[in-house]
Amino acid sequence: FRTIDQLECRGKRVLLRADLNVPVKDGRITDLTRLDRLTPTIRELADKGARVIVVSHFDRPKGVRVPSMSLAPVGEALAGVLGHPVHFAADCIGPEAEAAVSALKDGEVLVLENTRYHPGEEANDPEMARALASLADIYVNDAFSAAHRAHASTEGVARHLPAHAGRLMQAELTALTLALEHPERPVGAIVGGAKVSTKLDLIGNILGRVDVLIIGGAMANTFLAAQGVEVGRSLQEPGMHDTARSILEQAKARGCEILLPVDAVTATEFKANAATRTVPIAEVPVDSMILDCGPETVALLGSRIGSLRTLVWNGPMGAFETPPFDAGTNALARMVASLTEAGTLRSVAGGGDTVSALRHAGVMGKMSYVSTAGGAFLEWLEGKMLPGIQALDALAGIVLPR
Ligand code: 3PG
Repeated sequence: FRTIDQLECRGKRVLLRADLNVPVKDGRITDLTRLDRLTPTIRELADKGARVIVVSHFDRPKGVRVPSMSLAPVGEALAGVLGHPVHFAADCIGPEAEAAVSALKDGEVLVLENTRYHPGEEANDPEMARALASLADIYVNDAFSAAHRAHASTEGVARHLPAHAGRLMQAELTALTLALEHPERPVGAIVGGAKVSTKLDLIGNILGRVDVLIIGGAMANTFLAAQGVEVGRSLQEPGMHDTARSILEQAKARGCEILLPVDAVTATEFKANAATRTVPIAEVPVDSMILDCGPETVALLGSRIGSLRTLVWNGPMGAFETPPFDAGTNALARMVASLTEAGTLRSVAGGGDTVSALRHAGVMGKMSYVSTAGGAFLEWLEGKMLPGIQALDALAGIVLPR
């Protein structure tokens, strides 16, 4: 696809759509991963002599100027990560943005204010797209994690400028394509999290693509209960039992092996350091909740994953934010990391909770690829075409899902 490989951009104004939507707590940025992952593209463009104009949304101000959602502090953090000064303009379109762009010299970097301060961004207003495009000669999209949004800065603007994929976009698309479109087989997926209902499209899309599907987290409780297993007071969705049974049947028909927990860590109350009981899955006490998978499950899954060549991971195995219910996810994460390090497994993970779980387990850097995307990663796994990617023309070489 059209990358920045051959891009001649000395003296050119490059509008770089980044995802500067970093996590913030009490006004402080809690994780710089998205900024770190952006630096190769910015450095490469700046080294080639481009005038780099970084544009992004931040949080959800819904078309108004919410001061706490300004990108100014994120611009400063980006300067720190880059080790390179970064200018800032207090608007992303209009006179202020235009003046800041005109003042830019070759190799300099400018961050524009939050695109979502303008209602035209989320409405994908053609006027907003034109105004953004008028600032630049070339468009580079490095925001895979915002590519599921058909907004002015992710989709509309690509109609007005020569559009290219940045290095991070390229890395995300390559990793996901190798994991799901052209995986080395056997390929498996871990799908965890709380609700089957939020992952139905995802399961539907990957059933026909993977050889093994591991279902974990509270989602697994619904599958167990649907088969008549007593799950006590565990979180589950009684309304999804028919769906769960039909997924199990479809999987059988399509030759996809589904693995569910064979034992569970249970407690009568859900709180940190609660007293726990580990039981076979058929012996969950009626007054208890399943809050993590047990050691037998970890061993079974570990040995099954050991025979895979590719693994896609979305969603934790238990309530990992509340120890001791992090043990199952941690142990599985460490197994996946060691198989990856041994070179027998390509492991690709993504989605907000999954990334926190891997970080919690201390294996973030040990996976083959960890996506920076939350919603966009999910939509990709659901087989949806992402508008921000569709808008990048000439995607030859990447076989996109449906
Ligand atoms: C994300 O954090 O997943 C992206 O930045 C998209 O943010 P949004 O869900 O507010 O569109």
